[in-house]
Amino acid sequence: MNNPGISQAGDPVLRLKAAPVGPERLRTRELDALIETMVATMREANGVGLAAPQIGVSLQVFVFEETERVLALPPEERAEKERFPFPLTVFLNPTLRAIGDEQTTFFEGCLSIDGYTALVTRSREVEVSGLDLNGDPQTLSLRGWPARIAQHEYDHLQGILFTDRMLPRSFMTVEHQRTRFAGMRIGEIMQELGLSVPPERRA
Ligand code: CO
Repeated sequence: MNNPGISQAGDPVLRLKAAPVGPERLRTRELDALIETMVATMREANGVGLAAPQIGVSLQVFVFEETERVLALPPEERAEKERFPFPLTVFLNPTLRAIGDEQTTFFEGCLSIDGYTALVTRSREVEVSGLDLNGDPQTLSLRGWPARIAQHEYDHLQGILFTDRMLPRSFMTVEHQRTRFAGMRIGEIMQELGLSVPPERRA
């Protein structure tokens, strides 16, 4: 298994609605240890986000970050996806709402669906509210890739996987995406896969 310690699709824990972190758990060694394990697991797997159910804990906790590693991607790709370094962020008991109605469609993966990817349409901008790792209120407005990560991780806490939201015809192995479709525009890929191409994706 490529992602040791990470629950894979089919594990029922990924389909539960996670329980809120109760006040009695805030600022405890147990919670700190859970968050530390999540961060270590995410980094070990070269991920940009992880939700507690992915390590078998059905609690409303997720972590995400975009390290400087992202700067190795081609500048056009970073610009198109709005990816940039983003500090490690922890959310407990989050709520999420879209800001505006602008949406974007990109390939997305998940450490719990190892080796596969698909196009997923998500809000370009969201506001996430909840508690930080100390239990203090935290609200962030996110745009671009961090907004996508937050929506993906928030979904995990509802028992939702990206395959529930994907454009089914775009489901493929990461291997195919990297080889067969490398460097192609999303609009071209959609056309090849027999998907209807939205106006903003037409050449
Ligand atoms: Co995931």
